[in-house]
Amino acid sequence: EKDITILAIETSCDETAASVVRNGYEVLSNVVNSQIESHKRFGGVVPEVASRHHVENITMVIEEALVEAHMTWDDIEAVAVTEGPGLIGALLVGINAAKALALAHSKPLIPVHHIAGHVYANHIEERLTFPMLALVISGGHTELVLMKDHMAFEVIGETRDDAVGEAYDKVARTIDLPYPGGPHVDRLAASGEDVLEFPRPIMDDYDFSFSGLKSAVINKLHNLNQKGISYNKEDVAASFQASVIDVLTTQTFKALKDYDIKQLLICGGVAANRGIRARMETMCDSNDVKLLIPPLNLCTDNAAMIGAAAYYQYIAGKLGTMDLNGRSNIDL
Ligand code: KG4
Ligand code: ZN
Repeated sequence: EKDITILAIETSCDETAASVVRNGYEVLSNVVNSQIESHKRFGGVVPEVASRHHVENITMVIEEALVEAHMTWDDIEAVAVTEGPGLIGALLVGINAAKALALAHSKPLIPVHHIAGHVYANHIEERLTFPMLALVISGGHTELVLMKDHMAFEVIGETRDDAVGEAYDKVARTIDLPYPGGPHVDRLAASGEDVLEFPRPIMDDYDFSFSGLKSAVINKLHNLNQKGISYNKEDVAASFQASVIDVLTTQTFKALKDYDIKQLLICGGVAANRGIRARMETMCDSNDVKLLIPPLNLCTDNAAMIGAAAYYQYIAGKLGTMDLNGRSNIDL
């Protein structure tokens, strides 16, 4: 069979990324230019700053991806790009670059959903098989996705307010940890104890809600401060994380049981969390569920995952046209 080599571009948030992927899983190059340092002083991603960085870097990042992969345009079959969801200005930089290149080199264009990318990150290390349930947890997303075939996504649960990573970052901020706070909370949690009794917001269906938990943390600390009662950051981190873990595992295992699924994929930046991984591993073991977690560099935003998903979309013939537009909100 003929090889299908795709150039993929991802600019939905604060990473300018390009990758060359062959046949859906062979990563020939994976260039990621992170803007975290530029957003740190603002305590979060500033959309205008993100767009400007993408514009400055996109050409170089794409060029690097081709050079690293030892590919010329003759070897490239199609150009894939993240269509959404994401920051609109940021998305448009990648989309316009993809359209210009597709037009100039007469290649088909493949618009890819960002969450499909996060799921297909796993396909690079270990080929996806179905049925499976994916728990997508990142700074922008918290979703339970049921998959019975390639590129067939059924979102059975999602956050009604904040994403998990967002909650981590906000809680981190209240205890003066730098952005992005998730990894810091994770680190502190390891030496703290779950003593602050935060709520476990568990929805009746498979949805999530983290804004109440975030507010509970803020209110509790405010009350303790007012009463002059001291607490340590480790315990705040451990108590918050214990609540998050209880909520994520409860909803996930309820869904696995109800749908009788024996494979769980956890992806997105928060999949790096040691506490979440440890509890999920234990629970998967005792429930006879196979646990899949992509390597950490593929869990955070990158273009290789977009190139992997794009392959299946390409062979299904789902291509884009020159009027492709960025969509900040788009269903999976
Ligand atoms: O997937 P990602 O790189 O970007 C989005 O698409 O959102 O995820 C970034 C998010 C941030 O909120 C960051 O704080 C969180 O993932 N994160 C973590 C950990 N590492 C990254 N959250 C909790 N524990 C971690 N170890
Ligand atoms: Zn992402």
